[in-house]
Amino acid sequence: MRLAPRVTNLKASATVEMTERVRAARAAGRKIIGLSSGDPNIATDPRIVDAATKALRDGDTHYVSSNGNPALRDAVAARELLRTGASYAPTDILITPGGKFALLAALMAVVSAGDEVLVPEPGWVSYGPCIQLCGGVPVPLAMLDRIDIDQLAAAITPRTVAIILNSPVNPTGRVLPQDEIAAVVALAERHNLWIVFDQVYSDLLHEGRFCAPQATPEGSARTLVVDSFSKTFGMTGWRLGSLAVPGGLIKSFQRFMQHSVYCVPGFVQQAGEVALSLYDELVPQYREMFRARQTLAAARLDAIPGVTCVAPTAGFYVFPAVGPADAAVSARWLDALDVASVPGSAFGAAGAGHVRLSLSTSDADLVEAMDRIQRLAQQEGASR
Ligand SMILES: Cc1ncc(COP(=O)(O)O)c(C=O)c1O
Repeated sequence: MRLAPRVTNLKASATVEMTERVRAARAAGRKIIGLSSGDPNIATDPRIVDAATKALRDGDTHYVSSNGNPALRDAVAARELLRTGASYAPTDILITPGGKFALLAALMAVVSAGDEVLVPEPGWVSYGPCIQLCGGVPVPLAMLDRIDIDQLAAAITPRTVAIILNSPVNPTGRVLPQDEIAAVVALAERHNLWIVFDQVYSDLLHEGRFCAPQATPEGSARTLVVDSFSKTFGMTGWRLGSLAVPGGLIKSFQRFMQHSVYCVPGFVQQAGEVALSLYDELVPQYREMFRARQTLAAARLDAIPGVTCVAPTAGFYVFPAVGPADAAVSARWLDALDVASVPGSAFGAAGAGHVRLSLSTSDADLVEAMDRIQRLAQQEGASR
């Protein structure tokens, strides 16, 4: 039987595949230190869990509004106003099963067959495949250290419909500065392009200001904002995210929800409301924890000859430069050290020469992983 090229041509997710490999190795008895998955090791706060179980017991087990519960849309709009100053009516917000589905809903609504979408790299592994699922063509552009406007402008063709921006960036942890955001908004205005803005790590900013294209009227008129509860609250498995769209356009995005997943379960949405109400209490602690780990890991890695690592100012990843053979380095850490990571080249050619470590493990395991990596480097140095 034949399968559609839509799925057969799709590249597997390098991060999900690595997580599966780690799962299988653990099942076979190996004690792997997992630094590959973007799943923060935060236990969802018990009050959030209680909200879901209470909602279930109270009968929130049916279809709910496919747009999302009004109370949660209110809370998401209020959070967005505090975060970026962008003012959304709750009716311009769609509650989605995770940020990934918000991204897919955004692309489904703006990409037609053969349309091109510009994707700065290194970038998250799902951008290209989600564009392809919509029949579009991803146009990867190497931009490790900054958003290069000239390169973006040169890549625009009559088929270009959108630019994907992500800040803080997965995998580098870089936070896009205001001048880069403003330049992308101006470019998008000149060429009448959408900006799909993925801010799922924006709550984990350790210093500086978070800048977003939707913060200005010109930007918000052409920006689709992808957000998520996953990374902020340790809620990856709950599948809860949101998409904010310019005023008056939500209906088209809703139709995609109506004919696909229908709605996010009501009890999950009720839990999300409680999560947002606990934001000020919970999120600063999580940030502190991740920042301390990034500082530690970056210092330990940077001290290894041949490795360069600077602690990013956001998120929970570090992205050390390890020399040209990033895939071999990552494989060796897994095979010889039982330390799982993701080669930087999985995030596009511009990520080659780096390895992404997700500091989503206990502090003790992180120190142990750093000890193992350092010992291996010493052994390899001595045998050279
Ligand atoms: C950059 C980026 N965007 C979006 C997501 C989607 O996360 P979720 O679907 O769990 O909200 C991820 C998850 O790893 C990510 O790294």
